Amino acid sequence: MVIDNEIKGRLALITGASGGIGAACARDLFAAGAHLALTYSTNKAAVDALLHELEPQADERRTTSHACDVAREDDLKRLFDEILQMHGQHPDILIANAGYGKRVSNILDISIEEWDKCININLRSSFILTKLAVPHMQEQKWGRVVYISSIAAGGTSINGCHYSASKAGMQGLSKNLASKMGKDGITFNDVAPAMITETGMIPSEENLKGTPGDVKNIPVGRSGKPQECANVVTMLCRTGYMTGQSILLSGGLK
Ligand SMILES: NC(=O)c1ccc[n+]([C@@H]2O[C@H](COP(=O)([O-])OP(=O)(O)OC[C@H]3O[C@@H](n4cnc5c(N)ncnc54)[C@H](OP(=O)(O)O)[C@@H]3O)[C@@H](O)[C@H]2O)c1
Repeated sequence: MVIDNEIKGRLALITGASGGIGAACARDLFAAGAHLALTYSTNKAAVDALLHELEPQADERRTTSHACDVAREDDLKRLFDEILQMHGQHPDILIANAGYGKRVSNILDISIEEWDKCININLRSSFILTKLAVPHMQEQKWGRVVYISSIAAGGTSINGCHYSASKAGMQGLSKNLASKMGKDGITFNDVAPAMITETGMIPSEENLKGTPGDVKNIPVGRSGKPQECANVVTMLCRTGYMTGQSILLSGGLK
């Protein structure tokens, strides 16, 4: 069997590339030679700025920007239509990164609407994106799917139980598909970050003070950086022998 871990020339779809972790993943996969399809929800300017930054090194590479509310099935379908139109193919690599979390720690304060919103943006979208992505990957017998989950899936969280449930759901989705679709040449893994600053979710370590993610509770003594998430994501894209894994990226926080 041929071992193919080449990223160069592959098309990577990264949702939420307007945010901290998504933008870092985009930069890293671009540096590895990938074409990019990047989504934003409200912050078009951030993706425009990122594409402007990458443009001088783009060579023949295609980089596109797409508005998409991942909670809407019709938006996700339109996204895949746009990608096919603009790139002539569907993605080879899917980084399901767009996410939403609110710091409501008491279950009694979490409304049904808030539960639905969180589950739809984080979990339901991951399911729909994967359904849209796998036919092309199956056909060519090569694909990489990486979900950005969270340490919250295991319980520790600065957000509420709805967020934890959505992220644990993503891990279950990933592990199930990994066991079922390995023979199709598609790997499924998730990266479970914790306390990544320089992001919209956690701008700085100040925002962690007095929470379970306070830097004083993190064994390595600092918060993580988006580039460190990107390092793991790119490693997973480059390592076809790894599938069904959940990689906790937390500076030792449990
Ligand atoms: N930072 C951390 O410590 C940490 C820890 C664990 C997990 N995570 C996960 O990492 C992922 C990236 O978050 P981040 O830390 O980089 O925060 P961020 O900078 O706030 O990025 C969040 C991204 O998600 C997008 N998004 C939110 N709601 C959306 C929707 N309905 N439709 C489409 N896109 C939507 C945002 O788009 P716009 O800005 O364009 O609206 C933005 O690009 C999330 O899944 C988050 O749960 C982060």
